[in-house]
Amino acid sequence: SPVVIAIDGPSGSGKSSVSKAVAARLGLAYLDTGAMYRAATVWGMATADLADAGAVTTAVRAMPLVMGLDPVAPGVELDGKDVAETIRTTEVTTNVSKVASNLDVRAELKRLQREIIDQESGAQAVQSGGRGIVAEGRDITTVVAPDADVRVLLTASEEARLRRRSLEVHGADDASAVEATKDQVLRRDQDDAKVTQFLVAADGVVTVDSSDLDFEQTVDAVLAVVTQ
Ligand code: CDP
Repeated sequence: SPVVIAIDGPSGSGKSSVSKAVAARLGLAYLDTGAMYRAATVWGMATADLADAGAVTTAVRAMPLVMGLDPVAPGVELDGKDVAETIRTTEVTTNVSKVASNLDVRAELKRLQREIIDQESGAQAVQSGGRGIVAEGRDITTVVAPDADVRVLLTASEEARLRRRSLEVHGADDASAVEATKDQVLRRDQDDAKVTQFLVAADGVVTVDSSDLDFEQTVDAVLAVVTQ
């Protein structure tokens, strides 16, 4: 029967790339919930004043968002437009924690996320031969899918996370590139940690520490948790 795999972790833990690889390897759908918070931020900036929490909530409740669930090419569509690149801009990254700290926005996105997870793992999925879903974010193991078959917290040392994020954003991991990434990553982690508890594994959640693992080793470590 279809399986639900929940993976949480902080910025630079490798959670998105590892989750995609795990989903692809197991033939599962893939949901990037961080992309949904980023899309909500894009939509909030375009249609409301980000300082007006009520207006942002109203905007997000009417957000024309379509999430692509293919782990090899997971698209994000907003109002019929591909926003996969827009949601990764510095401006969006700078504002996303503010939108993610709005509890009414969280409730709405959680509702959408559960709908997608149910669609990929419920009776409908069984009928259509669906094999399940990997959902990743900050609160999937604890709030969105606490009943998931497999729950993993992917962690890494601060040093490893900053190095990876620096490579992603600046294409380099020398001291000055890491320094340029540092404030942004650590501030966002701090802001996020006020709202979602993703720095310590909740009861029953398996921790995979990727500090000393390369990408393939991390994927294998998560797959080992799935098959254990
Ligand atoms: O860039 P990174 O991979 O670290 O983050 P992301 O997964 O793209 O998530 C972007 C932002 O969305 C986070 O910094 C959180 O503010 C928010 N988020 C959340 O609050 N809850 C989730 N389940 C996923 C993301």
